[in-house]
Amino acid sequence: MNRAAVLAGLGTWLPENVVTNDELARRLDTSDEWIRTRTGIRQRHVIGPGQSTGDLAVEAGRRALKSAGTDQADMVMVATSTPDRPCPATAPDVASRLGLTGVPAFDIAAVCTGFVYALGMAAAVIGSGTAGSVLVIGADTFSTILDPEDRTTRAVFGDGAGAVLLRPGDPGEPGALGGLDLGSDGSRSELIEVPAGGSRQKASGRSAEETGAYFTMQGRAVFSEAVRRMATSVETAADRLDWAPGDIDRVVLHQANARILAAVADRMGLPADRFVSNIGRVGNTVAASIPLALADGVIEGALRPGQRVVLGGFGGGLTWGAMGLRWPDISPV
Ligand code: ACO
Repeated sequence: MNRAAVLAGLGTWLPENVVTNDELARRLDTSDEWIRTRTGIRQRHVIGPGQSTGDLAVEAGRRALKSAGTDQADMVMVATSTPDRPCPATAPDVASRLGLTGVPAFDIAAVCTGFVYALGMAAAVIGSGTAGSVLVIGADTFSTILDPEDRTTRAVFGDGAGAVLLRPGDPGEPGALGGLDLGSDGSRSELIEVPAGGSRQKASGRSAEETGAYFTMQGRAVFSEAVRRMATSVETAADRLDWAPGDIDRVVLHQANARILAAVADRMGLPADRFVSNIGRVGNTVAASIPLALADGVIEGALRPGQRVVLGGFGGGLTWGAMGLRWPDISPV
């Protein structure tokens, strides 16, 4: 029999420290009005001294396990582009701190598409019988790689983590992931990048500004790519599930910018209220963005059991992806 990966638990974690638009405007040449109208963001959460991506991932992972009513998983994947250290991966440490020492654990780096890529890999691993349950965590702390003087990226990004536990199940049951579509275009990798700190350009010995170790994004070009790629990927995933675009009850996209969500809705000919959004409260949290939006969608009543839901992401690489599921009866923690 075909085995599907089924969503069994959902957990999230945000650092305590909140930075409002007005607070940013006190330090940078920006305003609450500019940030709200250009992005839909009102505030973002930012880690404090001593906190790291791994710390957020552990908290979200613990909550996803609790939501699923278990303390066990057979594999741990952490989608992140801000690992605790360049080497080794963050996932083994996270697994160990969750009491899962011994299970395979690794990171997936697909920037804002990381969570969708990880779900796709987890579905393949469960489908092949390589593992039973997989804990998939999306966690990022972009505040650690932003140029403190860059008013655009500082306005957009926030820190956070979200996680799901996937278990094996029947492809026809609520929560079963299907219709997977993933893609990339490395010829446009310079649109979203941290130039230094890897093997091509070292970051050691000088300041982050001099070496190019800060995150950079060509906002306008990324905007149009994000709209085109996410709309097409969501349609492809729906088509693979034999759903027409109009059959989709809810779309949960990577929360990059409220205007991108509106433009995708427009391009797909769907009402904007089918698109779940929590960007105002958390900003763009990179790999954490989709699970954080899923949890808020359930809490606010936008996501209800039985609905046809498509998840879609777009990010650095460039990378994109989407998949669908019938929403299961789960309670986020
Ligand atoms: N406050 C005030 N003014 C600002 C700010 C700010 N925070 N940031 C930029 N501006 C100014 C610019 O300097 C520019 O001024 P100018 O016209 O005098 O040169 C003007 O506003 C317009 O700048 P743009 O960059 O063209 O603004 P835009 O409307 O495109 O908004 C933004 C920028 C929010 C980044 C938008 O382009 C965007 O959301 N892009 C997509 C991001 C995305 O999808 N990312 C997903 C992947 S991210 C990842 O993978 C990590």
